[in-house]
This record gives sequence, C-alpha cells and structure tokens, in this order.
Amino acid sequence: MRRNMQWIRCGALGAVLALGGWGCMGDAGSDGTGVTTVSSELSLGAALPGTNAAAFSAASANFAETESAADGLGPIFNQNACGSCHQNGALGGAGQNIEQRYGTLTNGTFNTLAATGGSLRQLFGIGGFNIGGLNCNSGVDSNPAQGATIFAGRMTTPLFGLGLVDSLPDSSFDTLASREPASVRGTPRRVTISLPNPADSSQSIGSTRVARFGWKANVPSLAQFSADAYLNEMGITTTSCSRGTVVTAFATENRANRAGTNAIINGCPDDEVPGVDDDFAAENHNCSGGLNQLQDDVNNFTFFMAHLAPPPQVAITAGSSQDRGRTLFNSATLACSGCHRSDADIFVSTSAGGVPAGIAFQPYSDFLVHDMGTLGDQIGLNDGDSVASTRLMRTAPLWGLRSRNNKLHDGRTTDIATAIRDHNGGTVGQGTAAAAAFGALNSSQQTDLVNFLNTL
Ligand code: HEC
Ligand code: HEC
Repeated sequence: MRRNMQWIRCGALGAVLALGGWGCMGDAGSDGTGVTTVSSELSLGAALPGTNAAAFSAASANFAETESAADGLGPIFNQNACGSCHQNGALGGAGQNIEQRYGTLTNGTFNTLAATGGSLRQLFGIGGFNIGGLNCNSGVDSNPAQGATIFAGRMTTPLFGLGLVDSLPDSSFDTLASREPASVRGTPRRVTISLPNPADSSQSIGSTRVARFGWKANVPSLAQFSADAYLNEMGITTTSCSRGTVVTAFATENRANRAGTNAIINGCPDDEVPGVDDDFAAENHNCSGGLNQLQDDVNNFTFFMAHLAPPPQVAITAGSSQDRGRTLFNSATLACSGCHRSDADIFVSTSAGGVPAGIAFQPYSDFLVHDMGTLGDQIGLNDGDSVASTRLMRTAPLWGLRSRNNKLHDGRTTDIATAIRDHNGGTVGQGTAAAAAFGALNSSQQTDLVNFLNTL
C-alpha cells in the first residue's frame, strides 16, 4: 500500500547512540562486558529492548496488513499479508503455509523452469479485472507446471531474532565454518546483493554478502528478503533507492505460467498498473540527490523483523532431564552442536542494519549450507546448478523450536525425534552420522535430548 510514513529508527540514530550510550537499549541486563543478554526475559514476539515502541507498532501493523488488488496484490500471489503466513505463537512466527517449489533436470543440471513461472509456484490469482475497457484475467499457475519433475514443499519459517543474525559480518560465518569438524563442515553461501540495506554502509549493489536467510540460505539480508517476499509471495512490486541508484530488481510482476517479461496477453496487462505497484523511485524523482532509502513498506517489514527479539528459552535445572539432554546435544558422539551452533563469541549483535549492538543470542544454527543428501529438497537456485548443490540446506535454527508444529523444510513431521532420524540422508548426507548416533541412544537418552530441544 502506498503511504508516506516517517518515523524514527532507533538504531539508525547515530547521534542519539553517540550521545546517549545505550540510548537504544532500554533496561536490558548487562554483564559489564558490554554484552547484553535478552533472550530469557522477553515474551515471544516482543521487540528488542530499547526499540522505539511507536515505530515497532507501525511496522508490525504494516507487516500484518491485508493488501488487495487495488494496493497491487497479484496478478498471482500466495497470500495477501506477510502476517497471514508468519503468525504461529506471535506475529512474525512460523506458519502452517507450505509453499511449493518445482523444477526438473535438463542434461543433468537443475532447470528452474522460469519460462513457465518456476521455481516458486504461486497458488492464487486476482482473477478478472478491467483495464482500459478490456476484460482481463490474471490466470493462475497450473499445477503441476508443464515439464516439472521435481517438487518440494517449504515450511514458513519464524522470524524472531533474525535482525541480530542480519547484523553479523561475513567473517562470523567464515569463522564458524573453520571451527566445524570436516565431516559436517558447512559452506558460507556468498551471493550478490541486489537490494542493499541503507542502514548498513557495508552493503552495496553488486557486492557480495553471506546469504543467511531462507531454508537454503540464499538471501543476504532482511531488507532484500522483504522486497523479495513482497513480490514473490504477494505480487507487489517495489523500487527502492540505493545511494542515488534506482533498484529495479523487484519491479517485475510474476505472470501465471510464463516469464515475468512476457507481460501482455491479448492486449491485457496482468495487473492494475503492471510493474509500478509501489514505484518509490518514480514518486521520489528517480533517487536523485543520492537518495538512500527503502520503499516504505519494505522499510517497515525490515524494521519489524530486525527488532523482533529472540524466542525466550526455558531455564534448565542442573541434573534435570533437559540438562542431560543438553550434554548429549553438545557431545562429540552426537555432534548436533557441530552444525546447530551458539558460539558465545560469534553470536553478539553489531549495530549494522540498525539493531542495538552487544546483544548476545543463541540461534542453534551456523546459517551455513550443508549437503544433507536425500534430505535436501533437490531444488537449485539457478539454471545449471549441479545436482550436488540442490541438496544443500541451511542448518535450521533451533531457537523457538517448541513453539513450532511442523518440522523440516517440507513440514513432514510434528515429531522432534522423527526430524532427527530424518537427518539420515544416505552416504553423502552430512547429517547421516548424527541420525545414526541418535538411533544408538537408549530411549531415556532420546527423551532427554528431545526435552532439551523443547527448552529452546
Ligand atoms: C504465503 C506465505 C508467506 C507470505 C505471505 C510471506 N512469507 Fe515469508 N516465508 C514463507 C516461507 C514458506 C518461507 C521459507 C522460504 C524458503 O526458504 O524457501 C519464508 C521465509 C521468510 C524469511 C526468511 C526467514 C529465515 O528463516 O531465514 C523472511 C525474512 C520472510 N519470510 C519475510 C517475509 C515478509 C517480509 C513477508 C511479507 C512481505 C513475507 N515473508 C510473506 C512464507 C510466507
Ligand atoms: C550436518 C549438520 C547437521 C547436524 C550434525 C545436525 N543437524 Fe539438525 N538440521 C540440519 C539441517 C540442514 C536441517 C534442516 C534440514 C531440512 O529441513 O532440510 C536440520 C534440522 C533439524 C531439526 C528440525 C528443525 C526445524 O526447524 O524444522 C531438528 C529438530 C534438528 N535438526 C535437530 C538436530 C539434532 C538433535 C542433531 C544431533 C543429533 C542434529 N540436528 C544434527 C543440520 C544438521
């Protein structure tokens, strides 16, 4: 929806931070080292301490807001609000919505079938609409898509705490990889930035950043994910400004069963105003004067997600079942913590992206991709990707696990023990040994481990 909303971004106010020290930190507890631990005190869905309450509330309302065709929804889309999918436990949570990806192999490499609308299938269309006196129809992606042989479901993931992850420099992920045992070592996936976050001066169009978001860790920042999801989940195009340059990467509509560039059928454009749903750049003189600003909805989504606090963890009593489970989780035999990591020296926020610096967090992930063998979803990112690369999955962060229902990328199970057993990905799977080690535990040890996971 078009709007001109201005509000004060806590983390972006360099002057206030410089003058006020922890001006953005509120009353979070500090251990005297400058590192603040917030995870256990806050309820699910709360804002990070010190977040400007009015800004957070405006941004969360925007995240929850239902959009219509008049706002630019469609022509094809999966849902009409971010909050319709991300809502388990609290706004921003996981969801029951399982998206559909598809593709095929051509000459032994992955084919996204982009010419027929792949690899993401949009479930709905806005249907009939009239433009310039013509009766038009959006159509809807056919199911199954022509030529598709590989199909994968993708669960909606929770967003709590991700602003802290977004604030980490690439070097954090390189360090994590270097610490991992060779048999389970992950790879930081570096991708080209298409939409830099103006609040992080290290980002620019065309430079690379470690992609840390999504089941396959293919998106480098929350800002870019916001524009991407707005377009690909809701069909709402946007342009933003990056240091005076118009960013058009998210300005082309998706079309039912055909490439986005193939816009017109029988003289009918697909949408009310194709390609300019929320053309921030045009409204703001093409980013002249070095304008460095996200489109306002994209800015709100980014702000909301960046300031969501991590899920609260349940305190563990020494000697309890959960405590024994924690020991097992961290043991060399199971090696769960080889991938599901919470290294205290790495997981401390920086001020990049506008969140408060110095917040310690425990995501139980390395945000690296691993070859999970047959557990991988077999979906590539680009045409020509090797079969091996289609098996790469990001270590799922385990924080907040107890507030989620379905587990694993396709939501195949609600049972934690089954999710662990399914790490068995065959001979090449990097999770196969962990699954076998779990299977070798006696049943009370397995219960201890699951009880520990239910504290996260
Ligand atoms: C139709 C349901 C749906 C809607 C609507 C939706 N999402 Fe999502 N979201 C998902 C799914 C499914 C995933 C996992 C996608 C993947 O990795 O393939 C996801 C993942 C994400 C992630 C990555 C989280 C992580 O774990 O790394 C972010 C960020 C995100 N969504 C933000 C948004 C924003 C912002 C909006 C609104 C513009 C939005 N989403 C709308 C379903 C949805
Ligand atoms: C080689 C790295 C690796 C190791 C070792 C590993 N995991 Fe995982 N784990 C992953 C990946 C990758 C996923 C996501 C897989 C998918 O859905 O495709 C995952 C998913 C999970 C999930 C489901 C989370 C969700 O959001 O759906 C649980 C629970 C889990 N792991 C627990 C464990 C436990 C317990 C161990 C030790 C016995 C372990 N993992 C060992 C990489 C690993």
